[in-house]
Amino acid sequence: MKKFFKIVNDSAKSLRARSVEVNEITQEYIDLLNEMHDYLVASQDEEISEKYHLREGVGLAAPQIGKNIRALVVYYKTTDAEGNEVVVDHRLINPKVISESVKLAYLANGEGCLSVNDEHNGYVYRKNKIIVKAYEVKEKKEVIITAYGYEAIVLQHELDHLNGVLFYDHIDKKDPFKVIDGSVRL
Ligand code: NI
Repeated sequence: MKKFFKIVNDSAKSLRARSVEVNEITQEYIDLLNEMHDYLVASQDEEISEKYHLREGVGLAAPQIGKNIRALVVYYKTTDAEGNEVVVDHRLINPKVISESVKLAYLANGEGCLSVNDEHNGYVYRKNKIIVKAYEVKEKKEVIITAYGYEAIVLQHELDHLNGVLFYDHIDKKDPFKVIDGSVRL
C-alpha cells in the first residue's frame, strides 16, 4: 500500500535552515515534487487521510520532509468569482519572488502548518500580491505566477520554509491580533 512522507515537526533542524537551490533539475526531483503533490491530495481525501492519519494540508515545502532544497508544492480547490471550481496546483523548484505588493493580507483564523502541532494564535501579515518565478514541474519549464490573497499567503508560507522561517515567527508577541490599516482580511 502507499507509503507517505514523514513530516518533521518544528523542532527539526531542517525547518530552521536555509535551503539550497537545485542546480540541475533531474527526474529524481520531478518525482519528489509529484510525490509531495500526491501527499497533499491524499491529505484532503477524507478516507485516505483518516486511514493513514494525515493532517489536511494545502502546502508542503521540502524542508518539511527533511530535505533542504528550494522546492515546494501547493494544492487546493476553490471557486472563482463565477462559482466555477478552480484547482490551484503549483509544484515549484527554485521559486523566487520577483515582485510584491505594498498592500498586506492576513487570514482571520490565523495560519497553520503540517509541521506545527502547538497552537499559535495571532495574525500573520503577508503581501497581498506576489509574482513568483520558478521551474514548474507540471509544465517542465520556467513559469511566472501572479498570486493574490489566499494563494499569495500560502505561497509565502511555503517560501518561508525554504528560509527557515515559521509562520508564528511573524506573530506580534505583544499584540497578536493587531489590525494593520489597509490590510486585506481573508
Ligand atoms: Ni508550513
